[in-house]
Order: sequence, then structure tokens, then C-alpha cells
Amino acid sequence: MRKLTHMLLAGTLVLACSSCGVETTANYQVIPLPQEVALSQESPFNLNAGTIIAYPENNELLKRNAKFLAEYISQSTGHTLQTEALAPGSEAPKGAITLGLDPAIRNREGYVLTVKADRVTLNGQTENGVFYGIQTLRKSIPAETKATSILLPAGSIQDEPRFSYRGMHLDVGRHFFPIEFIKKYIDLLALHNMNTFHWHLTEDQGWRIEIKKYPKLTEIGAWRDRTVIGRNTEEYDNTRYGGFYTQEQANEIVKYAEERYITVIPEVDLPGHMLAALAAYPEMGCTGGPYEVCPRWGVFEDVLCIGNEKSMQFLEDVMAEIIDIFPSKYIHIGGDEAPRTRWEKCPKCQARIRTEKLKSDKNHTAEDRLQSYCMTRIEKFLNSKGRRIIGWDEILEGDVAPNATVMSWRGSAGGIKAAQLGHDVIMTPNDYCYFDYYQSEDTRHEPFAIGGFVPLEKVYSLNPTASLTEEQAKHILGAQANLWTEYIPTSEQVEYMVLPRMAALAEVQWTQQEKKDYTNFTTRLAGLISLYRRDGLNYREPFRQQADSTATAVSYTHLRAHETSAHL
Ligand code: ACM
Ligand code: ZN
Repeated sequence: MRKLTHMLLAGTLVLACSSCGVETTANYQVIPLPQEVALSQESPFNLNAGTIIAYPENNELLKRNAKFLAEYISQSTGHTLQTEALAPGSEAPKGAITLGLDPAIRNREGYVLTVKADRVTLNGQTENGVFYGIQTLRKSIPAETKATSILLPAGSIQDEPRFSYRGMHLDVGRHFFPIEFIKKYIDLLALHNMNTFHWHLTEDQGWRIEIKKYPKLTEIGAWRDRTVIGRNTEEYDNTRYGGFYTQEQANEIVKYAEERYITVIPEVDLPGHMLAALAAYPEMGCTGGPYEVCPRWGVFEDVLCIGNEKSMQFLEDVMAEIIDIFPSKYIHIGGDEAPRTRWEKCPKCQARIRTEKLKSDKNHTAEDRLQSYCMTRIEKFLNSKGRRIIGWDEILEGDVAPNATVMSWRGSAGGIKAAQLGHDVIMTPNDYCYFDYYQSEDTRHEPFAIGGFVPLEKVYSLNPTASLTEEQAKHILGAQANLWTEYIPTSEQVEYMVLPRMAALAEVQWTQQEKKDYTNFTTRLAGLISLYRRDGLNYREPFRQQADSTATAVSYTHLRAHETSAHL
């Protein structure tokens, strides 16, 4: 222990004098906090420009992992480490960081990092686990150092995630973000040990994914002629806005994410939030239109006509192309915010209600059941192709599609109910996980946002299994934050809204509940923030609120974003 204190002190001294360029010490107290860190009395490992990163020959994934580690170390230290394949059966070489697999590690994404004076070994049950060990190692090194030696304290880290689903969502419908930024966003997920990118691809305000059988979805549906100014005022900017991803670009994103052990779950939101599709194919709405790619924000009465067999065929055709692009086990089919008003008056929808014998009862209308009919039909289609569906918690209103996983957004209640019914659940409660909400109550100094208030500490306090029995808790696959982009027009503003709240979420997703401690988290946050700063990310200064109470001048980069959105 004395030795540890000594080393930490030494690290601090060197950090204070980084231009001295001798040595600095790594600190394993990273975000998310590893489950077990045990330091030993041995001398530290000296990581320097001559350190080799070794991986087993014939393992392409570990070879790529080795390259990632080399790249991360280079970003922090400027040293370009060599990577080297190891012949089968050969021992971890001295002076090297050796990556490997160990089937005895119990969690698929778990890893064990062992640091000795003469070598470092990093094993995972799978390559995924090794990747998380690499993330821990990269975050334990100062984000920027000129030191020639990085001392890795001897000891071992045994780590594994609490939840198997660790996600971030991005709405590209309200505002469109270029493919380069989607890659940057995926890199941020990897940095925070997340493994799922929920790509919300269709909205009233824009359809963003090329579907070859329905070219008008992107020719017409990806573009709106105007956008409302502010929170649904009567003024518009009269500027054409839009964009979409080709299937080729989407494939590129899937591959980029996969290399970082991230699954892309696409969302095609149905049967509501479909105005962009209806503008392209008006015959699929109950009234036949005309429809406009929506220039306003909100929930709209014009939804897909479920009585029209052509609309159902359209959904299956779209899903057929979606599953060709996205290999994910889950496909998100939305289901949120679908008003029933058009269905009540539509002869086709009413005929469907009769032929399918959909009945109202004291809890649900026949039209609620019409939505369930639609979700269940698409679920059956996707199940027949070996996929499973996720739906927003509205799918609990009616007859829940039998194999659906429920994404709880209107608080946690829907998720709790779904878990009690035996459905799998992903927790994204708006009061903890809506990163489009303000980060401060002092909204004058924040970029214009939708409303709400979800500060860092609130995100951190989420326990996704709270108030569930042990049996029900097994249905909670994990947690995710959602970023709806009505009021987020630029990628800089996306960064501002997610950073550093993603850090708090990472610990909700990864670290065991009993190991979480907000005060301790805040002491560890500085290291991650220095990495954000190094990479030029537009994060929110986390503890600004207190400092603000006396400050009048605020010179943070986010004000750029504030200015760009001020006209909205
Ligand atoms: C949602 O926020 N409408 C899922
Ligand atoms: Zn209809």
C-alpha cells in the first residue's frame, strides 16, 4: 500500500512536470470502474517506445485489437509501438503486452489484465473482452504525456460488465449527421465500453436509409422544404434540409462498428412517425394525403394505414432490405406515439378490425389492438427471418407482440411491467436517460434544448433493476441513453449533449451497483475529460453549474452551438 501511495505520488509529480519527460504512472481507476483491481508489491511494468504488443498468430481479431491498442498509446504518448504475431504454444514474451484468450473467464465480455514487472498479459474469454481490457488500459494512461516511460503498477484487474446490453441511441431523422460523425459517435461508444448503437433511421421529418424497392423514400422522404423555428412557432426557415445514407454507407457503418465490437440496431419507427414515408407514398396513409415531409416537431395524426395490405407489404419489403444491411439479432420497430384518430375513421382500418375480430375492452380500444396486430405481423415476419424485435413501451398497450423486447422510455414503469410479464427489457427512462434534456437548471447558459433536466448525477443514480425481484431483474438486458435531435442541429451539439453524461451512463451499464459511488466517480472523471479535451470533443464542463453562480462571462465552446441554434 505504501508503495502504491509512493507510485501515485511519483505519477502526480511527473504529471505536474510533464515537460521533464521522464516517467509517469498509469492509474487503473478509470470510467467505467473495473470490478476488481488488486495491486501487488512488485515493481511496475515500464511501457515505452520499445514495448511490443503481441497477439496469437492466426487470430485476426486480436491482431486488430493489438493495432487499436498501439493507436491509442500513440495518441497519448506519441510512441508508435510495434505489434507482433506469436507462434502457437509460445509463451508471452518478456517486455511485451500480450493479448490472448482464456476460456476460463466466465463472462463473454470479461477480461483479466495481469501486470508484472517484466510483462503484461491481457486475456478475454473472447476478443470482445480483450477490447474492453484495452479500453481500460488506454484510459489508465494520461491522455497526453511526453514521458518516455509509462509505469503500469503491478497487479491484476478482473473485470466484466454488469449488463450485456450497453447502448446509445441517435436520432438522425430530425437532423441528419454525416457518416464521418456516425463513426466518431461509434468511437465514443467504444471509449465508454458500450456495445450497441441504436440508429433511429426514420422519422416524420426525414427518412434516412436507402430502400431500393421504394426509391421515393429517399428521393422525396429524405428532404423537407422548411423547418419550424423554435419550439413549434408559426415561423419557418424556408430552407430545404435533408440527407440520407446509402445502403453502401450503412454497410460501412456496420463494419466500422463491428470492428469495435458494437452492434448496430436499426430502427424503422412504425406505424407512427411515418410522415416522410407517406409524403413519398401517400397511398399508404388512411386519407391518401397529400402529405409533407414534416417541418414541425411533435406527434402527428397521419400514420400508416394498417387496413391497407399495400402498407403491410411495404413494411415487410423495407424490413427485408433492412435485415440484409444489418446483421443484428434485434431490429427496432418503434411503435411509439401512434395516434388512433385516422384508424377510427378509415374504412380499410375498420374492415381490418372486423376481419381480424379485434375487440375493445375496458383497457384497450379496437384501434389499440390494430396497432398490436401491425406490430405482431412485423414481429412474425422478422422472427421467420431469425430476428427479434424491440419496441418502445407503447407496445404494452394492447396485446404485446409475443417475443418482443420492450424499450422503456416513459419512465421505468413500462419496463417493470414488461419484466413482470416475462419480456426482456432495455431501460431508457426519460427522467435518467434522455440526453436531449438540459444538463443544468440554468438554461440561459445552455444550448437551446427541448426542456427537462437530467444532470450528470441523475444519470449516475439510475439502477436499471430497481424495484424488481431477482427473477424479474434477469429480464433487464441493460440500459441506454437516447438522443432525440429536434433541437440538436450540429454534431458539435450532439457531443455537448452526450459528454460527459455518457461517462455516468457507462458506469450504470458496466459497474456493479454496490461499487458505484458518485463522489468517487467525479474524482475519476477528470482523466476521461482530459481525453475528451485532447480529442477536441465539445463536452460540457461537468461542474460548471456551481462556478456559474458567480460567473457572468462564459467562454465555452458550446456557445457556438448555442448561437447556431438560437435562430431556431
Ligand atoms: C420516444 O421518445 N418517443 C420513444
Ligand atoms: Zn387506414
